[in-house]
Amino acid sequence: MPRYNSPRDLQEGLDVRPQFSRDGAVVEIPRRRMSEHSVDPQTAYHVIADELMLDGHARLNVATFGTTWMEPEAERLMAESADKNLVDRDEYPQTAQLEDRCLDIIADFWNAPEPDDPIGCSTIGSSEACMLAGMALKWRWRDRQREAGRSTERPKLIVGANVQVCWHKFCRYWDVEAVEVPIRKGETTLHPDDVAAACDDDTIGVVAILGSTFDGAYEDVAGISKALDALEARTGLSVPIHVDAASGGLFAPFVDPELVWDFRLERVKSINASGHKYGLVYPGVGWVLWREAADRPEDLVFRVDYLGGDHPTMSLNFTKPGSGVVAQYYQFVRLGYEGFRRVHQHSRDIAQSMALAIDSMEEFEVIADGSDLPVVAFCFKGANTKTGRPRKGSYAEKVGFTLDDVASSMKQGGWSVPAYPFCADREDMEIIRVVVRNAFSRDLAEMFLLELGRAVGRCDGTGEDPGRPFRH
Ligand SMILES: Cc1ncc(COP(=O)(O)O)c(C=O)c1O
Repeated sequence: MPRYNSPRDLQEGLDVRPQFSRDGAVVEIPRRRMSEHSVDPQTAYHVIADELMLDGHARLNVATFGTTWMEPEAERLMAESADKNLVDRDEYPQTAQLEDRCLDIIADFWNAPEPDDPIGCSTIGSSEACMLAGMALKWRWRDRQREAGRSTERPKLIVGANVQVCWHKFCRYWDVEAVEVPIRKGETTLHPDDVAAACDDDTIGVVAILGSTFDGAYEDVAGISKALDALEARTGLSVPIHVDAASGGLFAPFVDPELVWDFRLERVKSINASGHKYGLVYPGVGWVLWREAADRPEDLVFRVDYLGGDHPTMSLNFTKPGSGVVAQYYQFVRLGYEGFRRVHQHSRDIAQSMALAIDSMEEFEVIADGSDLPVVAFCFKGANTKTGRPRKGSYAEKVGFTLDDVASSMKQGGWSVPAYPFCADREDMEIIRVVVRNAFSRDLAEMFLLELGRAVGRCDGTGEDPGRPFRH
C-alpha cells in the first residue's frame, strides 16, 4: 500500500523532501490499473520520464525515416499549438491559414498545374494520405467502369513487392485486390514493363514509390509513366499513377530538382509525403495533393458546419492537433529553399561517404549508396545476385553469423539498426539499412562506423576491432 495517500501527506512529502527521495516518489504506482489517489505533477513526470529513458536515444535510431531533432523554437511552437484542433477552422483561422500556405508551397514543389489553388489536405502521416489517395483512385475507376458499362466487382491496385505496408492496409480495408509485381533478381525497384503488363480493365491505378522504404531507391516514375502511355496507345486503357513520395516528396525537389517524377507527368494524379520524414517535422504530419479537382471525387469530401462556417474536409480522423502543420510552416519559413537544400545535401554527402567506407570493408557490399534518399543499405559481400544464391567463395557463402547478429551487437554501442530480409521475391538477400537524416552529423557517422567494425569483431570472434572500417 502506498504510504502517502492523502493530499496533506503528499504536500508534506513535497515540502520537506527532494525529488527521488521523498516518500511520494518511492511508493509503488500501479502500472495496469489506475491508482485510487493522485500524485503530485513532479512525481508523475519523473515516474514516466525515468521509464522512457529505457527507450534509448531517438537520434541513435538509424532505423527510422522520422524526424528526431528540431530546433527549440520549433519545439516551442509545437507545444504552443498542441491544444488547437486543426479541424476547428473557424476557431483557429490562423492555424488553418498556415495549413493552406503549406499546401500552396508543396503544390509548387510538386509542379501542380494550379499551385495557387491546390487540391489536397494535411494528414496525420503518409499512411492516412495513401488511404485518401487510394480511395480517390477507387472511386474514379468505379465511375469510369460504370460509364463504360463494365463490372465494378474486382478493383485492383498495382503495387511493387517493395511497397510499404500502408498499401496492403489500404487494399484490405477498402476491399481492393493488391496485385504485387515482383522485383526482378538483382534489382530493388519495379521494372516499368512489369508494371504495364500487370494492368487490365480492373486496375484502379499504379503506385510508384519515390524513395523505397527498403533501400531509399527512387522508383523510375517517368519510365513507368512511359510504359503506361505505350499501354494506352496499344489498348486504349488509361491507368493513373499515384506517387508514394512519403520520403522523397520533401527531399527530391531540393537536391534532385531536375528529376521528373511529379505532376509534370500528366499521368501522375496524386502524390503523398510525410512532413515528419524529410519535411523535418516531428511525427505526425503528412500531405496529399491531387493533380486537379476532377481527380478527387466530390463525394469523398464532407462539408462540416457544426463548428461554425462551412468547410470541406477529407480525412479519416476528425480531430488532430495543429502542431504538425505549424511546425511544417516553421521549417518552410526558417530554412527556405536554400536551407532545405543544404540540410538534405549534407545528409546525402554523409550517406555517400558512409557507403564508401562500408563498401570497402571485407564483409559488406553496399546495395544503396545514398545517391537517391540518403539511405545506406548493405548486405554480406556476394549476397546480391541474379540467381538468389550467394556468389561461390564469397563472404556471404562462408559467413557464420547473420546480419541480425550484427544489428544486435550494435545495440551494445547504443545504436538501433534494422536487419531484415529484402522485400518479397528478394528475401534471399538480408540487409542492414541506415537512414541518414537531419542532425546525423559527420561525427555520429564516424562513431557508427567504428561501432560497426566492433560489432563484426564481436560476431566473428576476432574480438573488437575499432580500426576496421578505416583500415582500407
Ligand atoms: C514509402 C512509404 N510509404 C508510406 C509510409 C507510411 O508513412 P507514415 O509513417 O507517415 O504513415 C512509409 C513509412 O515509412 C514509407 O516509407
